[in-house]
Amino acid sequence: MPNDTLTIRPLHPLFVGEVSGIDLTQPIALEQVAAIETAIAEHAMLVFRDQRLTDDQQLDFSRRFGDLEHTGGTGISKPGEQRLHPAFADVSNLDVNNTVLARDNRRRLYSLGNMLWHSDSSFKPIPATYSLLSGRVVVAKGGETEFADMRAAYDAFDDATKAEIEDLICEHSLIYSRETLGFGDLSEAERATMRPVRQSLVRTHPVSGRKSVYLASHIGKIIGWPVPEARAFIRDLTEAATQPAFVYRHAWRPFDLVMWDNRCTMHRARRFVSTEVRDMRRTTVAGTDTTAAQVPLAAE
Ligand code: OGA
Ligand code: MN
Repeated sequence: MPNDTLTIRPLHPLFVGEVSGIDLTQPIALEQVAAIETAIAEHAMLVFRDQRLTDDQQLDFSRRFGDLEHTGGTGISKPGEQRLHPAFADVSNLDVNNTVLARDNRRRLYSLGNMLWHSDSSFKPIPATYSLLSGRVVVAKGGETEFADMRAAYDAFDDATKAEIEDLICEHSLIYSRETLGFGDLSEAERATMRPVRQSLVRTHPVSGRKSVYLASHIGKIIGWPVPEARAFIRDLTEAATQPAFVYRHAWRPFDLVMWDNRCTMHRARRFVSTEVRDMRRTTVAGTDTTAAQVPLAAE
C-alpha cells in the first residue's frame, strides 16, 4: 500500500495522536516525514499500531528525524553486555541471552529509574528530541507507559509561578534519579559518566512555539537555590504537571511504535510482574541545541 495518506485520531483531549495509513516497514517519502513532524509538533506524541519492525527498519525510520543517540558511555551499561545495536536503548528486562533478568540484577534495578517521571536524555548537555519505543513483546498486565503533557502543565501554572520559573536553570544527572530510588552503589567511573548538566526549566518548542516546563526526576538542583528548597519545589511542580488531566496511559499492544517529543512531555513505566518477558526497544533522536549554558569543567 502506498504511504500517501496519514490519518490522525486523538487519543486524549490534550495530546497524543494515533496515526493510521502508514506502513513503517516500507520506505517513507519525504512528504510523509514532514507530515509526521507536523503532527508530532501538534500532538507531542504519536502512536503507530501494528508496526512489525525489524531493528534495521526501526533504525532507518528513526534516522529520518535526525542523528541517533548511542547508548554506550553513559550510565552502567558495559560493552559486551549489550543485546542490541548501540543505537538502541534496551528497555527490556532481558540479558544478552534473552533471559529475564533476576529480581536483584543490578541492571534491572538501575533501569527501574524509568518508573520515575522523566524526559529522555535530559542528563546530556544536548538533550534528545524524539524517542521511538517499539513494543516487541509486551506484558499481559501492567507495564503501561504513562505520558504527561508539559505544555498543558506549563499553561496551567498561575502567573506568579510562570514568572518564578521563567529563567530558572536546573542540574540534571542520572545520579539524582538513582539516588531517589536508593540505588547509590555507583563506581567512580560510572559517576564520571553522569556528571550533572544544566537545563532551562522553561522551554519554547521550535515548531509549535508553545512553552513547556522541562521537568525530570534527574533534577537535583536549581542553580542559586538551597538544595532542599529546590527539591521540594521541583516535587511540587512535578505533582502539578502530572495530575491526571495531563496524563495519557499507553496500554501496549504487540508491535505498537510510540514516538514522543522529549522537549514537551514526560513519561514513566508502570509496574509489571518481573518474571514476564517485556521486550521494548528504543531509538532516540539526538537534539541539536543546549537549553542552557554549561559550566566549563575547569570552572567548577
Ligand atoms: C523509555 C522509557 C518506559 C517503559 O523507553 O525511555 O522510559 O514503559 N520507557 O518502558
Ligand atoms: Mn524514558
